[in-house]
Amino acid sequence: GKERTLAIIKPDGLLGNYTDKIKNVIVEAGFIIFKEITLQLDKDGVSSFYAEHSSKSFFHSLIKYMTSGPVLVMILEKENAIADWRALIGPTDARKAKITHPHSIRAMCGVDSERNCVHGSDSPQSAQREISFFFLEKSAGKILPYD
Ligand code: CMP
Repeated sequence: GKERTLAIIKPDGLLGNYTDKIKNVIVEAGFIIFKEITLQLDKDGVSSFYAEHSSKSFFHSLIKYMTSGPVLVMILEKENAIADWRALIGPTDARKAKITHPHSIRAMCGVDSERNCVHGSDSPQSAQREISFFFLEKSAGKILPYD
């Protein structure tokens, strides 16, 4: 049946004017953009969204990157949405994506393993948690709408 996943166009994607290109890829791949919101994340919001990475060496840098400008958060819907969105965005490291998955979204607009321009939930459990994080919980009070 239909499935939902969480997608984020990260600050470099938005500031680099990739939003329309990415949305065209999304729609042509058969996804429906069920909900979307543009947000300016703060340190607390990003830290709690990426809590599973809190012990990683790149965590502080990831927070700086994800708070460096607005992000576009979307719920995408289609059959097999979670795996299909992950396939469409390509590997985490955009440098690798440019070689192994040249038609992927990260190959198109990403820079390296951190600045990879988009996010996608990696499992049904993650999708549920991440959708709730942005669209259900009142914790989103920490997350300020951008416009
Ligand atoms: P994302 O798929 O949103 O999930 C976690 C994010 O952490 C990832 O995209 C990157 O932006 C960042 N990240 C993952 N691995 C690394 C790494 N090795 N170095 C720097 N940033 C990373």
